[in-house]
Amino acid sequence: MISKETIDKIFSTARVEEVISDFVNLKKSGSNYKGLSPFVDEKTPSFMVSPAKQIWKDFSSGKGGNVVTFIMEQEHYTYPEALRYLAKKYNIEIEEDAVEFSEEQKELQLNKESLYQLSEVANEYFQEQLWSTEEGLNIGLSYFRERELRDDIIKQFQLGYSPKDREAFTQFAFKKGYKKEVLEQSGLSIFREDSEQGIDRFRERIIFPIHSFSGRVIGFGGRILQNSIKTAKYLNSPESEIYHKSQVLYGLFQAKSFITKEDNCFLVEGYMDVISLYQSGIKNVVASSGTSLTAEQIRLIKRLTPNITILYDGDPAGIKASFRGIDMILEQDMNVRVLLFPDGEDPDSFARSHSSEGLELFFKENIKDFIRFKTDILLEETQGDPIKKAGLIRDIVGSIALINNLIQREIYIKECSRILDISEQVLFSELAQITRQKIRSDNKDVRKDVKLQPVAATSAEEEDFTYKIEEDILDLMLSYGNYEILINYMEGENPYKTTIIEEIVERFKEDDIQFSIDFYNKIFSDIVEGIENHELRTGEFFVKSEDEEFNQFAAEKMLKKYSISENWEAKEIFVPTLEENLSKNTRDVILKYKSMKILEMKKKLALELNEENLSEENRLELFKRIINLDKLLKQIHKLENRII
Ligand code: CTP
Ligand code: MN
Repeated sequence: MISKETIDKIFSTARVEEVISDFVNLKKSGSNYKGLSPFVDEKTPSFMVSPAKQIWKDFSSGKGGNVVTFIMEQEHYTYPEALRYLAKKYNIEIEEDAVEFSEEQKELQLNKESLYQLSEVANEYFQEQLWSTEEGLNIGLSYFRERELRDDIIKQFQLGYSPKDREAFTQFAFKKGYKKEVLEQSGLSIFREDSEQGIDRFRERIIFPIHSFSGRVIGFGGRILQNSIKTAKYLNSPESEIYHKSQVLYGLFQAKSFITKEDNCFLVEGYMDVISLYQSGIKNVVASSGTSLTAEQIRLIKRLTPNITILYDGDPAGIKASFRGIDMILEQDMNVRVLLFPDGEDPDSFARSHSSEGLELFFKENIKDFIRFKTDILLEETQGDPIKKAGLIRDIVGSIALINNLIQREIYIKECSRILDISEQVLFSELAQITRQKIRSDNKDVRKDVKLQPVAATSAEEEDFTYKIEEDILDLMLSYGNYEILINYMEGENPYKTTIIEEIVERFKEDDIQFSIDFYNKIFSDIVEGIENHELRTGEFFVKSEDEEFNQFAAEKMLKKYSISENWEAKEIFVPTLEENLSKNTRDVILKYKSMKILEMKKKLALELNEENLSEENRLELFKRIINLDKLLKQIHKLENRII
């Protein structure tokens, strides 16, 4: 993990105005700089940079922060990725605190690093073959030309060509010093059993490099040149330590800034669809190439926008895939729209046979929200058959039931009622029935493993609320953990002096409280441990060992701390929000959390009361426990309302 010294060096070397001017055209304005926001489309500049304070503020999107947060926002990097970017720009050597790595971990790290390197070498190689060899120019480049790709687009997507010679790349890599193991793991070479003689996976194919979110090459797709040849049209790199198909979207690296700007992501099926649309000016486009859409892929998009538009072929396979996609996207609480292309066309062929304006018009007229899309297709199938229509309604309400957000649900129910001409009431009761079934089956799982999941039948909103308090507690610990506070709970009790961390840890211990998700428990113990070992200084940017998840969480929390005063330009002030009364806040958040935990317990007991075959004795016992919890709750509320 990046050492504290390196991080300090990066912060003291990097100039916010220099870094930002790589992305935004900045003009001097008084002692500040001004430019067009890189996050939204605008005509008048509202993006400000202060060299004196080394901060930036975008008045259009409300975002703001320091040099590292700018790179995180702009490139959608994690905290360590942003640090690496800046280190590279300023030629700062990165020192790693690697002491905590075990031998095994170190080896894994080395192995991953050589896989990345080899992929980069291969990427250069395939491009070199395309642009600088006779075979590449004659076969590869002329193929791209035939498919009407412009040179600048071929270069931007780093497309390449792999020659006919069976072992050209393998020999090239051997000469560069790469060993059999890494060549084999990358999938770029194939070795028969114990043979040291490898052959190339990609031969006489055009090559599409696949990039990670942050732009490193992690795998390849290769297409044959003639459709007539009886072999797989596309070959792809196999899974490896750096390439996990289910977690990658083709084109995301090139598309990400456009996805944020347009606040929408188009999702297509193939490599060529992405590139063709991009060339036609629709740049916020990615493909799930080679796998059916996964939840991880959807979450990648969710980092950039809550809106996805699925663009699939109008054949039955495409329609089926789009139905599956719709439900998966709804489950992630994102908005989904759909556009089907005429049967026999895919986005690539369609984009090529239409002008930009024609394409735009087609999109405008044919994109449907998912309710409209599903009903149109299903209604055609039912042909007025009432039994089939009932099935259709269940199908659509089933999709709506996947949405967690209640307001969104209601909007869709209304829409559905309008389109299908069925009263809202009927639809709502259908929805309630489906939801009840879902809760019932969820609860079965919960009861099976009460220890793992102590909360029963909580609604999505309650869950959100729990997460929020839990995050508040972690946030307080991260930001002010070693601050001293004076605290008391009871009237007449003497306040005692302690630190925020100690207080929270003690109060958690006394009731044996666990957070609702493992990730938070882990952050909690990481913070406690970090403070004890004097690794963390609260309220500052810091990184912890090799734990990327932790670092990202911490960075996000720290960013929120930096709020910028409304009339920033006039006053030029930049204030980290200092909690005014840390003692009160600590006490309040602990009490709030405890009362929430008690409520959860109460609910759980109430659910048990409903169980069949409950003996009278057990029923009474449950009642008693519920009444006791009620008393406890009342006490806590009294404490909460006390003014200190
Ligand atoms: N695919 C794959 N392996 C195959 C066939 C397809 O991995 N044997 C993936 C590729 O990512 C491809 C996508 O599925 O881009 C869609 O396949 P298809 O529609 O058959 O190809 P197109 O994208 O239309 O490719 P082209 O236009 O080059 O024929
Ligand atoms: Mn195609």
